[in-house]
Amino acid sequence: MARILSGIQPSGTLTIGNYIGALKNYVKLQDEHECLFFIVDLHAITVPQDRQKLRQNIREITALYLACGLDPKKVSIFLQSEVPAHSELNWVLTCNTGMGELERMTQFKDKSANASGKGHHIGAGLFTYPVLMASDILLYDAEMVPVGDDQKQHLELSRDLAERFNSRFGDTFTVPKPYIPPVGARVMSLQDPTKKMSKSDDNSKNYILMTDEPGVIRKKIKSAVTDMDGSVTYDRANKPGISNLLEIYSALTGDPIDALEAKYEGAGYGAFKADVAEVVVAELEPIQKKMKELLSSPLLDEVLDEGAAAANRLANRKIKKVHHKVGLGRKR
Ligand code: TYM
Repeated sequence: MARILSGIQPSGTLTIGNYIGALKNYVKLQDEHECLFFIVDLHAITVPQDRQKLRQNIREITALYLACGLDPKKVSIFLQSEVPAHSELNWVLTCNTGMGELERMTQFKDKSANASGKGHHIGAGLFTYPVLMASDILLYDAEMVPVGDDQKQHLELSRDLAERFNSRFGDTFTVPKPYIPPVGARVMSLQDPTKKMSKSDDNSKNYILMTDEPGVIRKKIKSAVTDMDGSVTYDRANKPGISNLLEIYSALTGDPIDALEAKYEGAGYGAFKADVAEVVVAELEPIQKKMKELLSSPLLDEVLDEGAAAANRLANRKIKKVHHKVGLGRKR
């Protein structure tokens, strides 16, 4: 049994990219491992957020975690800002991170280019964000971190920081490994399948939200960009749109991609897209129903209270150890 930890930013309603790349795997892992899943609200404020909307997103993601099948009796579900040790470890690790290491992060390059393109200011938090992510993981000695492909580089930095700290200050942190699904690790935008599907995209046609109505899902998939070739075959480089839809279908049903290629041989894109839409609707409808019930239930606060208590117990023990190792405080 390994310790697993992962989290999602409450920076918008989740997309099927978040679900396929991360959340669906959380549910799979909860039976065999000790799991902590959290909502990373501190990360969300690296870009400006409306505070009412942020609070609403936090509740919505908590409800989604439960609606997707996470069982609070088996896993701890908590809010990052309710465990102060995340911010405390963040500072210690920031002092042990090189500027060059952060300058290399592709997500920072993309997000800062996007912010300056829109005339927004770029906060220093956007730059130091991967150190906070490393703090989240190392604080709990997580061995495995289920994430999508876009977080791979951040996981590598977490590993480097753990190894560096251990060699400077003595064995302190477990070196974590990413857990990336073989299919669906990078669900792409529906209108531009060379770009990742993202909940912060300006064009709503690019993504499917976990809360989209069935009619909206059908429409978005029907208008997804494909190609002129007409054959339902997997080829990421030359047929990114169809390959993306094949991955979505395969990740949701468990049917291997080659079996889907055989099933749709000669069928044409119209029939294939209609089936992809039904697969997505069938997966999301029951989750949406449960989520709506949960949103008004006191259970959400109970789950987050219990989760915060459990996380604080683990995190406080670790941060004390870290402070002691680096020479902070008065205890000899
Ligand atoms: P975030 O909120 O951007 O995304 C949450 C999770 O969803 C995955 N994901 C995708 N997977 C496949 N296809 C996509 N199009 C797609 N879009 C998003 C992400 O890889 C992620 O697993 N920095 C993290 C949050 C974080 C975290 C952590 C994760 C903060 N601390 C500690 C793990 C452990 C992030 O911004 O994820």
